[in-house]
Amino acid sequence: MVPANPALSVAVIGSGYVGLITAACLADFGHTVTAVDRDSARIALLLQGQSPIYEPGLETLLAIHQPSGRLRFTTDLPSAVRGADLIILAVGTPPRAADGHADLTQVHSAAAEIAAALDHCAVIVIKSTVPVGTNRHVEAILRQIRPELNLPVCSNPEFLREGSAIADFMQPDRLVIGSNDGAASDVLRQLYRPLIEAGTPLVITSRESAELIKYAANGLLAMKVSFINEIADLCERIGADVQDVARGVGLDNRIGPKFLQPGPGIGGSCFPKDTLELTRTAQDAGAPLTLVESAITANTARKAAMADKVRAALGGSVNGTRIAVLGFAFKPNTDDVRASPALDIVRALLADGALIQGYDPAAMAQAARELPGVSWVADAYAACHKADAVVVLTEWSEFRTLELERIAELMAGRVLVDLRNIYDPQRAVDAGFTYVSIGRRTPSGQTIMSESAA
Ligand code: UGA
Repeated sequence: MVPANPALSVAVIGSGYVGLITAACLADFGHTVTAVDRDSARIALLLQGQSPIYEPGLETLLAIHQPSGRLRFTTDLPSAVRGADLIILAVGTPPRAADGHADLTQVHSAAAEIAAALDHCAVIVIKSTVPVGTNRHVEAILRQIRPELNLPVCSNPEFLREGSAIADFMQPDRLVIGSNDGAASDVLRQLYRPLIEAGTPLVITSRESAELIKYAANGLLAMKVSFINEIADLCERIGADVQDVARGVGLDNRIGPKFLQPGPGIGGSCFPKDTLELTRTAQDAGAPLTLVESAITANTARKAAMADKVRAALGGSVNGTRIAVLGFAFKPNTDDVRASPALDIVRALLADGALIQGYDPAAMAQAARELPGVSWVADAYAACHKADAVVVLTEWSEFRTLELERIAELMAGRVLVDLRNIYDPQRAVDAGFTYVSIGRRTPSGQTIMSESAA
């Protein structure tokens, strides 16, 4: 069953975030990849060499591998899967509104379409984040439709972060393969040969374990961020500095320095959705994950607390004030605003009667759809024009290098609420600001306007 040619023929079903990155990077490994999507506008854009998502490095890969013929795009699933050695499912699994469980409609319908189109044996790989048991269930769907074909289903979760997805794919910490078929695992080894030869650790396990590895990793990371956010709150009460605490804690090799940056809350299309699914799965199995449940609760409360922090910095009310908001994406280097804390925080400020002047380097079009009440401007300085306060919600690099003195001169007020701790407190105070950040000491010379800034 393992193909003789080291370069495989691969079909990727779903050209959203995960599918596109996977397809482009696998073409870079030398495989021939056809990426499929039902969205014809998306495919039309890709066929012109343009990326429908903002991801550093992706357009370069498209520019190399589309002309070489190693990377193709189509809306026609049957033509893409015919002849493929390996078919990767990378379709969406959004949470169901009713119960928080992942909605597997797209996974199931793609599986049925694949089975109907295939006339040869192939390895099916599920890359979408799916609840435990899904790989086994998809295999049953395939077997029911095509009992005569050997179509083993393997779990191969992705650990890509938006904004650094290509580097994450090319230099992963590990590869996880969940399989109960030795030959299918070998085809996956062949797929990832460049990474395995470069020494990437490989975890080969059961499909259930592989499915849970993805959720457990995201759950643990979400708890880590929620933990440092609560430590930041404690720092504010007792006069400690969370940046020093995080550094001192993170230098312990058993803990590590990553994911200890406090902020306005966890957003994005993965952590909120995956933590919810994980807790639902655990509850259904009678083994509740109370720590992850607490992280979800803390994250919901955090966004309201951050709006309170802005209100407090402006003397208790934002009604009638003009506020510059810098950053709407859930993190830098992405145009994604899904579950971004900025949305909840800005909605709360708008509801309280604030006028919001907003700017984001990449996510304004996306944010504008969610926040029709915001006035959008062309750059950070324009956002600060005549503002009473400026609030930083995403740590884009270009915000770190803003001239604070120039901003102070443009503004009507002098309040800087930095919910990503990107400025040195003393520098902000020296530029004339009342500076409020997260979990850090009040700099000398600061005018204390609120309890949360103290
Ligand atoms: C996350 C995981 O990091 C990836 O490994 C995983 O593949 C992906 O989910 C997924 O399941 O597909 P992503 O959602 O792109 O990746 O974003 P992260 O970089 O993990 O950030 C998530 C949220 O946590 C952001 O809102 C970010 O601002 C926040 N965060 C992260 C902090 O507030 N502090 C930190 O120290 C780290």
